[in-house]
Amino acid sequence: GKAGHDHYMHKEIHEQPNALRQAISGRIDELTGNASLDIDLDERYLQAVDEIHIVACGTSYHAGLYAKELLEPLVDLTVRVDLASEYEVYDGFDSRRTLVVAVTQSGETADTLSAIRRAKAPGMTTLAVTNTVGSTITREVDDSLFIKAGPEIGVAATKTFVSQVTALALFTIYLGRLRGTISAGDGADILENIRRLPNAVQSILDAEPNIKRLAKQYVDSDAFFFIGRGLAYPVALESALKLKEISYAHAEGFAAGELKHGPLALVTKNTPVLAFLSESASPDETFNNVKEVESRGAPVIGLSTSDGTESFCKHTIDIPSLGRLEPLVANVALQLFAYHVANEMGRPIDKPRNLAKSVTVE
Ligand code: F6R
Repeated sequence: GKAGHDHYMHKEIHEQPNALRQAISGRIDELTGNASLDIDLDERYLQAVDEIHIVACGTSYHAGLYAKELLEPLVDLTVRVDLASEYEVYDGFDSRRTLVVAVTQSGETADTLSAIRRAKAPGMTTLAVTNTVGSTITREVDDSLFIKAGPEIGVAATKTFVSQVTALALFTIYLGRLRGTISAGDGADILENIRRLPNAVQSILDAEPNIKRLAKQYVDSDAFFFIGRGLAYPVALESALKLKEISYAHAEGFAAGELKHGPLALVTKNTPVLAFLSESASPDETFNNVKEVESRGAPVIGLSTSDGTESFCKHTIDIPSLGRLEPLVANVALQLFAYHVANEMGRPIDKPRNLAKSVTVE
Protein backbone atom coordinates (compact mmCIF):
# COMPACT_ATOMS: atom_id res chain seq x y z
CA GLY A 1 0.00 0.00 0.00
CA LYS A 2 0.84 3.66 0.10
CA ALA A 3 1.94 3.53 3.75
CA GLY A 4 0.15 6.74 4.73
CA HIS A 5 1.16 8.71 1.62
CA ASP A 6 -1.52 10.17 -0.69
CA HIS A 7 0.24 8.79 -3.77
CA TYR A 8 2.77 6.14 -4.65
CA MET A 9 4.90 8.85 -6.23
CA HIS A 10 5.15 10.64 -2.90
CA LYS A 11 5.98 7.39 -1.11
CA GLU A 12 8.63 6.53 -3.70
CA ILE A 13 10.23 10.00 -3.51
CA HIS A 14 10.55 9.46 0.23
CA GLU A 15 11.94 5.96 -0.23
CA GLN A 16 15.02 7.32 -2.00
CA PRO A 17 17.45 7.33 0.94
CA ASN A 18 16.70 3.66 1.58
CA ALA A 19 16.66 2.74 -2.10
CA LEU A 20 20.11 4.28 -2.37
CA ARG A 21 21.40 2.42 0.67
CA GLN A 22 20.31 -0.81 -1.05
CA ALA A 23 21.93 0.22 -4.35
CA ILE A 24 25.22 0.94 -2.60
CA SER A 25 25.26 -1.81 -0.01
CA GLY A 26 28.21 -4.18 -0.39
CA ARG A 27 29.41 -2.34 -3.49
CA ILE A 28 31.93 0.04 -1.92
CA ASP A 29 35.46 -1.10 -1.26
CA GLU A 30 37.00 1.83 0.64
CA LEU A 31 40.41 0.20 0.98
CA THR A 32 41.06 -0.11 -2.75
CA GLY A 33 38.97 2.91 -3.79
CA ASN A 34 36.96 0.60 -5.99
CA ALA A 35 33.37 -0.45 -6.57
CA SER A 36 32.66 -4.16 -6.28
CA LEU A 37 29.98 -4.94 -8.82
CA ASP A 38 28.91 -8.43 -9.73
CA ILE A 39 29.73 -7.90 -13.40
CA ASP A 40 30.81 -10.94 -15.38
CA LEU A 41 31.98 -9.17 -18.54
CA ASP A 42 35.54 -10.11 -19.44
CA GLU A 43 37.96 -7.66 -17.81
CA ARG A 44 40.37 -7.70 -20.72
CA TYR A 45 37.52 -6.79 -23.05
CA LEU A 46 36.50 -3.90 -20.75
CA GLN A 47 40.08 -2.64 -20.73
CA ALA A 48 40.14 -2.59 -24.52
CA VAL A 49 36.73 -0.97 -25.09
CA ASP A 50 37.04 2.45 -26.70
CA GLU A 51 33.41 3.44 -27.10
CA ILE A 52 30.23 3.09 -25.07
CA HIS A 53 26.77 3.54 -26.55
CA ILE A 54 24.05 4.15 -23.97
CA VAL A 55 20.49 3.52 -25.17
CA ALA A 56 17.37 4.35 -23.15
CA CYS A 57 14.03 6.19 -23.14
CA GLY A 58 12.52 8.97 -21.02
CA THR A 59 13.88 9.23 -17.51
CA SER A 60 16.32 6.39 -18.12
CA TYR A 61 17.72 8.38 -21.07
CA HIS A 62 18.35 11.30 -18.72
CA ALA A 63 20.19 8.92 -16.37
CA GLY A 64 22.27 7.91 -19.41
CA LEU A 65 23.10 11.56 -20.18
CA TYR A 66 24.21 12.03 -16.57
CA ALA A 67 26.37 8.90 -16.83
CA LYS A 68 28.08 10.26 -19.94
CA GLU A 69 29.11 13.36 -17.94
CA LEU A 70 30.61 11.05 -15.30
CA LEU A 71 32.26 8.56 -17.65
CA GLU A 72 33.88 10.78 -20.26
CA PRO A 73 36.10 12.86 -17.95
CA LEU A 74 36.97 9.94 -15.65
CA VAL A 75 37.38 7.00 -18.02
CA ASP A 76 39.26 7.19 -21.28
CA LEU A 77 36.31 6.50 -23.58
CA THR A 78 33.92 8.10 -26.03
CA VAL A 79 30.36 7.87 -24.77
CA ARG A 80 27.39 8.31 -27.06
CA VAL A 81 23.89 8.48 -25.56
CA ASP A 82 20.96 7.74 -27.85
CA LEU A 83 17.24 7.65 -27.39
CA ALA A 84 16.59 3.95 -27.94
CA SER A 85 14.03 4.66 -30.66
CA GLU A 86 16.64 6.69 -32.56
CA TYR A 87 19.57 4.31 -32.15
CA GLU A 88 21.03 3.13 -35.41
CA VAL A 89 24.17 1.19 -36.03
CA TYR A 90 26.41 2.46 -38.82
CA ASP A 91 29.91 1.51 -39.88
CA GLY A 92 32.79 3.61 -38.64
CA PHE A 93 33.41 2.12 -35.23
CA ASP A 94 34.82 -1.18 -34.07
CA SER A 95 31.93 -3.35 -32.89
CA ARG A 96 34.37 -5.55 -30.94
CA ARG A 97 35.53 -2.54 -28.95
CA THR A 98 32.11 -1.00 -28.32
CA LEU A 99 29.98 -1.72 -25.27
CA VAL A 100 26.25 -1.02 -25.53
CA VAL A 101 24.57 -0.18 -22.23
CA ALA A 102 20.76 -0.25 -22.05
CA VAL A 103 19.31 1.68 -19.12
CA THR A 104 15.77 0.57 -18.33
CA GLN A 105 13.87 0.46 -15.05
CA SER A 106 11.31 -2.09 -16.18
CA GLY A 107 13.51 -4.12 -18.51
CA GLU A 108 10.43 -4.38 -20.76
CA THR A 109 10.52 -1.18 -22.82
CA ALA A 110 10.04 -2.20 -26.46
CA ASP A 111 12.14 0.63 -27.93
CA THR A 112 15.07 -0.29 -25.69
CA LEU A 113 14.78 -4.01 -26.39
CA SER A 114 14.79 -3.37 -30.10
CA ALA A 115 17.86 -1.07 -29.84
CA ILE A 116 19.67 -3.90 -28.06
CA ARG A 117 18.71 -6.29 -30.85
CA ARG A 118 20.14 -3.86 -33.42
CA ALA A 119 23.38 -3.66 -31.39
CA LYS A 120 23.72 -7.42 -31.18
CA ALA A 121 23.49 -7.94 -34.92
CA PRO A 122 27.08 -6.77 -35.63
CA GLY A 123 28.27 -8.51 -32.47
CA MET A 124 28.47 -5.72 -29.90
CA THR A 125 28.63 -6.68 -26.24
CA THR A 126 25.59 -5.54 -24.25
CA LEU A 127 24.95 -4.66 -20.61
CA ALA A 128 21.58 -3.82 -19.02
CA VAL A 129 21.28 -1.44 -16.08
CA THR A 130 17.87 -2.35 -14.74
CA ASN A 131 15.67 -2.60 -11.68
CA THR A 132 13.91 -5.78 -12.68
CA VAL A 133 15.43 -9.18 -12.08
CA GLY A 134 14.14 -11.69 -14.63
CA SER A 135 12.89 -9.00 -17.05
CA THR A 136 13.01 -9.55 -20.81
CA ILE A 137 16.13 -7.43 -21.24
CA THR A 138 18.11 -9.47 -18.72
CA ARG A 139 17.58 -12.52 -20.93
CA GLU A 140 18.83 -10.74 -24.06
CA VAL A 141 21.98 -8.96 -22.86
CA ASP A 142 25.41 -10.36 -22.04
CA ASP A 143 25.25 -9.11 -18.46
CA SER A 144 23.05 -7.08 -16.10
CA LEU A 145 23.79 -4.55 -13.38
CA PHE A 146 20.85 -4.29 -10.98
CA ILE A 147 19.96 -0.95 -9.42
CA LYS A 148 18.12 -2.56 -6.46
CA ALA A 149 15.63 0.29 -6.00
CA GLY A 150 12.72 -1.97 -5.07
CA PRO A 151 9.38 -1.95 -6.93
CA GLU A 152 8.22 1.37 -8.39
CA ILE A 153 4.47 1.70 -8.89
CA GLY A 154 3.89 5.38 -9.72
CA VAL A 155 4.01 5.92 -13.48
CA ALA A 156 6.53 8.73 -13.00
CA ALA A 157 9.99 7.31 -12.37
CA THR A 158 11.54 8.82 -9.22
CA LYS A 159 13.62 6.57 -6.99
CA THR A 160 14.78 4.55 -9.97
CA PHE A 161 16.42 7.61 -11.58
CA VAL A 162 18.64 8.31 -8.59
CA SER A 163 19.46 4.60 -8.29
CA GLN A 164 20.29 4.31 -12.01
CA VAL A 165 22.71 7.21 -11.83
CA THR A 166 24.26 5.78 -8.65
CA ALA A 167 24.74 2.36 -10.25
CA LEU A 168 26.30 4.06 -13.28
CA ALA A 169 28.56 6.14 -10.99
CA LEU A 170 29.75 2.89 -9.37
CA PHE A 171 30.25 1.42 -12.84
CA THR A 172 32.32 4.51 -13.78
CA ILE A 173 34.63 3.90 -10.81
CA TYR A 174 34.89 0.20 -11.60
CA LEU A 175 35.80 0.90 -15.24
CA GLY A 176 38.21 3.71 -14.35
CA ARG A 177 40.02 1.58 -11.78
CA LEU A 178 40.18 -1.32 -14.22
CA ARG A 179 41.60 0.86 -16.98
CA GLY A 180 43.92 2.85 -14.72
CA THR A 181 42.30 6.24 -15.36
CA ILE A 182 41.02 6.65 -11.78
CA SER A 183 43.54 6.45 -8.93
CA ALA A 184 42.69 4.69 -5.67
CA GLY A 185 42.56 8.10 -3.99
CA ASP A 186 40.20 9.61 -6.58
CA GLY A 187 38.07 6.48 -6.48
CA ALA A 188 37.83 6.76 -2.71
CA ASP A 189 36.80 10.43 -2.99
CA ILE A 190 33.95 9.67 -5.39
CA LEU A 191 32.89 6.69 -3.28
CA GLU A 192 32.80 8.95 -0.24
CA ASN A 193 30.27 11.17 -2.04
CA ILE A 194 28.25 8.11 -3.03
CA ARG A 195 28.25 6.99 0.60
CA ARG A 196 26.94 10.42 1.66
CA LEU A 197 24.21 10.45 -0.98
CA PRO A 198 21.38 8.88 1.11
CA ASN A 199 21.73 11.49 3.87
CA ALA A 200 22.08 14.30 1.34
CA VAL A 201 18.80 13.22 -0.27
CA GLN A 202 17.22 13.05 3.19
CA SER A 203 18.17 16.69 3.80
CA ILE A 204 16.19 17.64 0.66
CA LEU A 205 13.19 15.62 1.84
CA ASP A 206 13.38 17.49 5.14
CA ALA A 207 13.01 20.75 3.19
CA GLU A 208 9.70 19.62 1.66
CA PRO A 209 7.56 22.34 3.38
CA ASN A 210 9.64 25.08 1.71
CA ILE A 211 9.41 23.36 -1.70
CA LYS A 212 5.67 22.81 -1.31
CA ARG A 213 5.17 26.50 -0.52
CA LEU A 214 6.98 27.46 -3.75
CA ALA A 215 4.90 24.97 -5.74
CA LYS A 216 1.68 26.50 -4.40
CA GLN A 217 2.90 30.02 -5.09
CA TYR A 218 3.66 29.27 -8.76
CA VAL A 219 1.01 26.69 -9.64
CA ASP A 220 -0.82 29.10 -11.99
CA SER A 221 2.21 29.95 -14.12
CA ASP A 222 2.06 29.92 -17.94
CA ALA A 223 5.08 27.59 -18.16
CA PHE A 224 8.05 26.37 -16.15
CA PHE A 225 11.64 26.37 -17.39
CA PHE A 226 14.59 24.48 -15.95
CA ILE A 227 18.15 25.46 -16.80
CA GLY A 228 21.48 23.84 -16.02
CA ARG A 229 24.96 23.15 -17.39
CA GLY A 230 27.12 20.05 -17.48
CA LEU A 231 25.84 17.49 -15.00
CA ALA A 232 22.81 19.70 -14.32
CA TYR A 233 21.66 19.77 -17.95
CA PRO A 234 20.24 16.21 -17.92
CA VAL A 235 18.66 17.04 -14.57
CA ALA A 236 17.00 20.10 -16.12
CA LEU A 237 15.55 17.83 -18.84
CA GLU A 238 14.43 15.28 -16.26
CA SER A 239 12.80 17.88 -14.02
CA ALA A 240 10.81 19.25 -16.94
CA LEU A 241 9.69 15.76 -18.00
CA LYS A 242 8.54 15.00 -14.45
CA LEU A 243 6.55 18.20 -14.14
CA LYS A 244 4.90 17.97 -17.57
CA GLU A 245 3.90 14.32 -17.31
CA ILE A 246 2.15 14.60 -13.94
CA SER A 247 0.80 18.18 -14.04
CA TYR A 248 0.21 18.62 -17.83
CA ALA A 249 1.78 22.08 -17.46
CA HIS A 250 4.14 23.36 -20.15
CA ALA A 251 7.60 22.58 -18.84
CA GLU A 252 10.93 22.56 -20.68
CA GLY A 253 14.52 21.97 -19.74
CA PHE A 254 17.33 23.86 -21.45
CA ALA A 255 21.08 23.95 -21.39
CA ALA A 256 21.55 27.29 -19.64
CA GLY A 257 23.72 28.67 -22.45
CA GLU A 258 21.04 27.91 -25.06
CA LEU A 259 18.42 30.28 -23.64
CA LYS A 260 19.69 33.21 -25.67
CA HIS A 261 19.54 31.14 -28.85
CA GLY A 262 15.74 31.08 -28.89
CA PRO A 263 13.92 29.96 -25.75
CA LEU A 264 14.43 33.37 -24.12
CA ALA A 265 11.54 34.56 -26.30
CA LEU A 266 9.21 32.45 -24.13
CA VAL A 267 10.31 34.00 -20.85
CA THR A 268 7.89 36.39 -19.11
CA LYS A 269 6.97 37.30 -15.55
CA ASN A 270 4.60 34.33 -15.59
CA THR A 271 7.25 31.72 -16.38
CA PRO A 272 9.29 30.75 -13.34
CA VAL A 273 12.82 29.60 -14.13
CA LEU A 274 14.37 26.93 -11.93
CA ALA A 275 18.15 27.24 -12.19
CA PHE A 276 20.81 24.77 -11.09
CA LEU A 277 23.59 26.80 -9.49
CA SER A 278 25.39 24.11 -7.52
CA GLU A 279 29.20 24.20 -7.39
CA SER A 280 29.66 21.26 -9.72
CA ALA A 281 27.47 22.78 -12.45
CA SER A 282 29.36 25.99 -13.43
CA PRO A 283 27.25 28.34 -11.28
CA ASP A 284 28.98 31.52 -12.41
CA GLU A 285 28.15 31.01 -16.07
CA THR A 286 24.60 29.96 -15.26
CA PHE A 287 24.26 33.00 -13.04
CA ASN A 288 24.64 35.19 -16.14
CA ASN A 289 21.66 33.34 -17.63
CA VAL A 290 19.72 33.93 -14.41
CA LYS A 291 20.29 37.66 -14.90
CA GLU A 292 19.00 37.41 -18.50
CA VAL A 293 15.69 35.91 -17.37
CA GLU A 294 15.34 38.15 -14.31
CA SER A 295 15.65 41.21 -16.49
CA ARG A 296 12.58 39.90 -18.38
CA GLY A 297 10.73 39.73 -15.05
CA ALA A 298 10.83 35.95 -14.57
CA PRO A 299 10.90 34.75 -10.97
CA VAL A 300 13.97 32.55 -10.42
CA ILE A 301 14.22 29.64 -8.03
CA GLY A 302 17.93 28.87 -7.60
CA LEU A 303 19.12 25.44 -6.49
CA SER A 304 22.46 26.09 -4.93
CA THR A 305 25.21 24.94 -2.62
CA SER A 306 25.09 28.44 -1.05
CA ASP A 307 28.21 30.17 -2.28
CA GLY A 308 26.53 33.56 -2.42
CA THR A 309 25.41 33.72 -6.08
CA GLU A 310 21.98 32.43 -5.10
CA SER A 311 21.30 35.54 -3.03
CA PHE A 312 20.38 37.24 -6.31
CA CYS A 313 17.63 34.71 -6.99
CA LYS A 314 14.10 35.45 -5.84
CA HIS A 315 13.95 32.10 -4.04
CA THR A 316 16.52 29.46 -3.20
CA ILE A 317 16.58 25.78 -2.36
CA ASP A 318 19.77 24.69 -0.58
CA ILE A 319 21.64 21.68 -1.93
CA PRO A 320 24.34 19.98 0.15
CA SER A 321 27.88 19.94 -1.28
CA LEU A 322 28.45 16.60 -2.93
CA GLY A 323 30.82 17.02 -5.87
CA ARG A 324 29.61 15.39 -9.06
CA LEU A 325 26.46 14.14 -7.35
CA GLU A 326 25.06 17.56 -6.42
CA PRO A 327 22.75 17.84 -9.44
CA LEU A 328 21.41 14.37 -8.65
CA VAL A 329 20.45 15.55 -5.17
CA ALA A 330 18.95 18.76 -6.61
CA ASN A 331 16.76 16.57 -8.82
CA VAL A 332 14.97 15.26 -5.72
CA ALA A 333 13.94 18.81 -4.79
CA LEU A 334 12.37 19.17 -8.23
CA GLN A 335 10.58 15.82 -7.96
CA LEU A 336 8.91 17.29 -4.86
CA PHE A 337 8.22 20.53 -6.72
CA ALA A 338 6.57 18.64 -9.60
CA TYR A 339 4.58 16.52 -7.17
CA HIS A 340 3.20 19.50 -5.27
CA VAL A 341 2.35 21.49 -8.41
CA ALA A 342 0.42 18.48 -9.79
CA ASN A 343 -1.24 17.79 -6.43
CA GLU A 344 -2.34 21.41 -6.14
CA MET A 345 -3.92 21.04 -9.62
CA GLY A 346 -5.71 17.86 -8.49
CA ARG A 347 -4.10 15.65 -11.13
CA PRO A 348 -4.20 11.82 -10.93
CA ILE A 349 -0.51 11.74 -10.09
CA ASP A 350 0.11 8.00 -10.08
CA LYS A 351 -1.67 7.45 -13.40
CA PRO A 352 -1.32 10.46 -15.70
CA ARG A 353 -3.55 10.48 -18.76
CA ASN A 354 -2.28 8.62 -21.85
CA LEU A 355 0.71 7.07 -20.07
CA ALA A 356 1.61 3.55 -18.94
CA LYS A 357 4.29 2.41 -16.52
CA SER A 358 5.99 0.20 -18.99
CA VAL A 359 5.77 0.93 -22.69
CA THR A 360 5.77 -2.37 -24.54
CA VAL A 361 5.01 -1.00 -28.03
CA GLU A 362 7.49 0.70 -30.37
C1 F6R B 1 9.01 9.11 -16.89
C2 F6R B 1 9.03 7.69 -17.15
C3 F6R B 1 9.34 7.20 -18.53
C4 F6R B 1 10.27 6.01 -18.48
C5 F6R B 1 10.49 5.42 -19.88
C6 F6R B 1 11.51 4.29 -19.87
O1 F6R B 1 8.74 9.39 -15.55
O2 F6R B 1 8.81 6.91 -16.26
O3 F6R B 1 9.88 8.23 -19.31
O4 F6R B 1 11.48 6.42 -17.91
O5 F6R B 1 9.27 4.96 -20.39
O6 F6R B 1 11.10 3.25 -19.04
P1 F6R B 1 12.12 2.12 -18.59
O7 F6R B 1 13.15 2.77 -17.72
O8 F6R B 1 11.29 1.12 -17.83
O9 F6R B 1 12.72 1.55 -19.83
